[in-house]
This record gives sequence, C-alpha cells and structure tokens, in this order.
Amino acid sequence: MKTNIALIGFMGAGKTTIARALAQKINREFVELDSLIERNAGKAITDIFSQDGEIAFRESEMRVTEKISRGRNMVIACGGGIVLNRINIDRLKKKSLVIYLSVSPEVLLQRLANTKNSRPLLNGKDMETTIAELLEYRKPLYKAAADIVIDTTEMDVDSVVKYIITSLSCDDSFNI
Ligand code: S3P
Repeated sequence: MKTNIALIGFMGAGKTTIARALAQKINREFVELDSLIERNAGKAITDIFSQDGEIAFRESEMRVTEKISRGRNMVIACGGGIVLNRINIDRLKKKSLVIYLSVSPEVLLQRLANTKNSRPLLNGKDMETTIAELLEYRKPLYKAAADIVIDTTEMDVDSVVKYIITSLSCDDSFNI
C-alpha cells in the first residue's frame, strides 16, 4: 500500500504550496526535495547550477529522491525536472502516488516572471520561449509518470487540495 504523495509538474505549478497545505490537512510530513538538495550541498540551487553545473544538481536530485522514496507518510514536493531521470519516478512510485499538477503556459509565465532569478533554467532567457520549449519536452514525461493529472490552471490552492483528498479516498492503491 502506498502512503506517500509526490507532486510533480513544471516550475511555478504550485507544487510546494499545495504539498504543504495538503500535508497539513491530512496530517503527513511535508518534504521538499529542492530544500534537501540545498541542505546537502550547503548552498542554494542557483549556486549549485552556476558553480557545479546541472549534471551535479541532477545527481544530487537522484540521491535525495532515492533516500526519500524509501520513507512513509509524506507529501513530497518534487523539483520540476524530477521526470528527466526515469529512475527517480521508478523509485518514487514504489511507495508514492504521483500527482501531476498541470498549468497553462500563460499562467506559468505570469507566475514565473517574478521569481526567475531563483530558477537557473529560466534566468537570463526569453521566458516565453523557454517555458514553451521545456514544456513541450516535459509534458509527455509528466503525464507518463502520473497516477493522477489535475489541470490546476483555474483552481485555487484549497480547491486543488480538496480535489486531491477526494481522489485519494477513491484510490485503492493508497492508504489515506
Ligand atoms: C527545476 C526546477 C526547480 C529546481 C531546479 C530545476 C527544473 O524546482 O529543482 O531549478 O528542472 O524544472 P521547482 O519546480 O520547484 O521550481
């Protein structure tokens, strides 16, 4: 029986906010993979990317995912690129129900406009084009990885949390 929920989706999809709210509501531990990567490295994600490179970041992401995916009773906010290495999803899926929070590119653009400095993949680039290109490549990966897909474009945090809780109580593979 699965006891974790892992939220996946593009940067700006609201994974962290929704994971935190959901964890509180269903009384589970909230875990953010990016924070664990930063804690292990002793520096911010932007510095990992600029000083050590994306490959080092992805390696750290794989190590953290491997460790976390063995635990129980957590709501896990994953980084947007978790799906780039298939092994991450294979590991997560052993004990986690994977939920893809889908958001339209227009809303992502609005949300990410203010935070692009903290997101190395978007920093210094034309955001609209970068989002479109990354989404085109990643969308099929998010969909393939997900047990549940929610289009959250027009939903607020509370509605998404309620929707997830209802979905969980109908899912036989999950122990809520
Ligand atoms: C990334 C998303 C970021 C962070 C890193 C790489 C990505 O997490 O892991 O900057 O490849 O999409 P958020 O999705 O929480 O922004």
